[in-house]
Amino acid sequence: MAPRTTRPVGTPTRGTTNPNRLRRMDRWIAAVHGPALRRSPEPPVAVDLGYGAAPWTAVELLARLRTADPRTRLYGIEIEPARVEAAKPYEHEGLSFLHGGFEVPVPGQVSLIRAANVLRQYDEEQVAAVWQRLCGRLAPGDPAGAGPGRYGGGLLVEGTCDEIGRRHVWVALDRGGPRTVTFATRLGSLDRPSDLAERLPKALIHRNVPGEPVHAFLRDFDRAWAAAAPYASLGARQRWIRAVRDLAADWPLTDGPRRWRQGEVTVRWEALAPRG
Ligand SMILES: C[S@@+](CC[C@H](N)C(=O)[O-])C[C@H]1O[C@@H](n2cnc3c(N)ncnc32)[C@H](O)[C@@H]1O
Repeated sequence: MAPRTTRPVGTPTRGTTNPNRLRRMDRWIAAVHGPALRRSPEPPVAVDLGYGAAPWTAVELLARLRTADPRTRLYGIEIEPARVEAAKPYEHEGLSFLHGGFEVPVPGQVSLIRAANVLRQYDEEQVAAVWQRLCGRLAPGDPAGAGPGRYGGGLLVEGTCDEIGRRHVWVALDRGGPRTVTFATRLGSLDRPSDLAERLPKALIHRNVPGEPVHAFLRDFDRAWAAAAPYASLGARQRWIRAVRDLAADWPLTDGPRRWRQGEVTVRWEALAPRG
């Protein structure tokens, strides 16, 4: 690839990462986006944007995507040049590391961009423009296949988790904008669903206040969790599934028991989008 002549778009931030930290996100992406990867006539191209001080999350994302489609290639992109140098020895067939930012300096359009724990360190006001820019790098899909709660073409997954990946919240977007929000957790680690509030992505974390939809959602989730307390004797998984089933009466969930069993639940973006 030709040497770059312009500055990458964005700002270097702390590089904290950990092996296997993003496994829940990886598994969800492979399950939900795998069919779209396999349908791609060309080998799918994925990006791990802002992989941090060590390349683990990029290496792992590629391995998990290849279980869905062995043709997948992945670029790890970092805005901090020293982190690109540190990752280079880990390159192998189908895995490359590049210096860059939100412009995503790879040829053509991409099937997936994953940005985990990147926007958390930016301002809330910057999120919409960054999303728009990143969504513009995604491959278009069949417009008939996209819509509220459904994705078409390439996918952007942008979210946040704790240091060891027990608690995650992410937004999934396609070229048309945000489609869903997913909450994912190690069930044994949870006192109540609103524990996940501290991991809300930048677009939502400042909106967890009365009057905002995400606050109402977590309040209802806590109530459903409390009502499902008798199921705790069967294990946290059964309690979660029961609570999520109750939640589905009032909130537009897009997934079902197969994903709930993993300690996940996915909600249409429109239901949680900030007011105003
Ligand atoms: C907290 S680390 C997250 C590492 C990894 N994604 C994870 O979740 O474990 C955030 C990384 O994003 C990088 N970063 C911030 N803005 C970026 C941008 N615009 N483009 C590429 N990388 C960026 C930072 O330099 C930092 O290394």
